[in-house]
Amino acid sequence: MLNQILSVNKLNLRFPETNFHAVHDISFELYQGETLALVGQSGSGKTLTALSILGLEPVNSSISGQILFKDTFLLNNSESLPSKNRKYPENIRGKHISLIPQDPLSALNPLMTIYQQLSEAYLIFNKKTSTQELEHLCISTLEQVGIADPTRCIKAYPHELSGGMRQRILIAMAIINNPDLIIADEPTTALDLTVQAIILELLKSLKRTMLFITHDMGVVAEVADRVIQMDSGKIVKSASVFDFSYN
Ligand SMILES: Nc1ncnc2c1ncn2[C@@H]1O[C@H](COP(=O)(O)OP(=O)(O)OP(=O)(O)O)[C@@H](O)[C@H]1O
Ligand SMILES: [Mg+2]
Repeated sequence: MLNQILSVNKLNLRFPETNFHAVHDISFELYQGETLALVGQSGSGKTLTALSILGLEPVNSSISGQILFKDTFLLNNSESLPSKNRKYPENIRGKHISLIPQDPLSALNPLMTIYQQLSEAYLIFNKKTSTQELEHLCISTLEQVGIADPTRCIKAYPHELSGGMRQRILIAMAIINNPDLIIADEPTTALDLTVQAIILELLKSLKRTMLFITHDMGVVAEVADRVIQMDSGKIVKSASVFDFSYN
């Protein structure tokens, strides 16, 4: 029996001002070690679903449903609740669930070195880490994401690195706390094709539990075990990657 990591049950997200129902009764499970692809057209609600899991949905929305992460409820409201009043548990986001965002340049701080940003991601949850320990961890994490010269790389600023390198840094930031779940929102869309292939290989090699958002069916075939497809805020299909590609 596989361990369930995440269970989303009847998740709904609405924008009361416009009466727009962006996410409609979404339910799915995610098990340890698997990569679940979330696919669908632009505007179908993929990112809002991901943000709801992270407790980062827009403040002008209202939310209802259950989101269970291991044994912690991230959301447990059958009635619609203004998102600004939602209480999201501490020490989950960034530690147990991390996000690999779409745009590697805007997600990094241009004024901070790679070392400053990577170490900050770790220090938030591990305040009493010695400098030596921290340096060692940053270097070994950069090695894990395939950075060839990590001692040089940690001194660099984001603009000194290529798009592919920057995405590797964001992946390093997403794994440095050894999370149970990684949410990747179109992690390769901003990269050119050859770099995309390399980053996909890297993500696969990490063998993590992942919710992988993409609109690229080639990427789905490459990385996913199962696929759910959204359309206009609803799940319209859920299948193994084999059945999905076959159809
Ligand atoms: N803050 C907001 N206020 C109002 N509507 C919003 C807000 N954020 C998103 N939406 C709307 O909700 C719908 C779903 O958005 P979402 O970003 O989840 O789509 P998506 O599936 O991730 O699309 P894409 O593939 O383009 O990233 C869209 O119609 C979008 O315009
Ligand atoms: Mg999106």
